[in-house]
Amino acid sequence: MTQGATRRTVIATGAAVLATGCGGNNGDTSGAADSTDSPSPTAPTSAASPSGAGTSAAADAKRLAGTSDIPEGGGKVFDAQKIVVTQPAKGQFKAFSAVCTHMGCTVSRVQNGTIDCPCHGSRFKIEDGSVAEGPATKPLPERSIKVDGNSIQLG
Ligand code: FES
Repeated sequence: MTQGATRRTVIATGAAVLATGCGGNNGDTSGAADSTDSPSPTAPTSAASPSGAGTSAAADAKRLAGTSDIPEGGGKVFDAQKIVVTQPAKGQFKAFSAVCTHMGCTVSRVQNGTIDCPCHGSRFKIEDGSVAEGPATKPLPERSIKVDGNSIQLG
């Protein structure tokens, strides 16, 4: 009984808030409509912030690393993105899933031309992600990246 009443109260309160919010906005808008200054400062501010922040945020979100972060003949593991980027030859960048195809551990390092899994010792070639040493039998799937100047971005 008490819980039911509480739920009803919450629902009723929520509905009241929604109704008040809509009514309040309408009232404020019609009140502010007298002043043309009110919408004007709001529009440029909101238009400038999202476009500027949105563009840089999107670029930042896609940017994975700088080309100088990836050693030639080696690579780097990006744990958060579950991607490993390699540079088998100067200026040639490749990316693979960092999830080991054996049992799903995240590969931990790139060393001596291979991408190494710490769990059971699988090693994958930095050139194409193929298996250099098991127990994994399948290659690391290739991931799409884009090199834009000195920046490596997720494809
Ligand atoms: Fe990578 Fe087993 S999970 S070697």
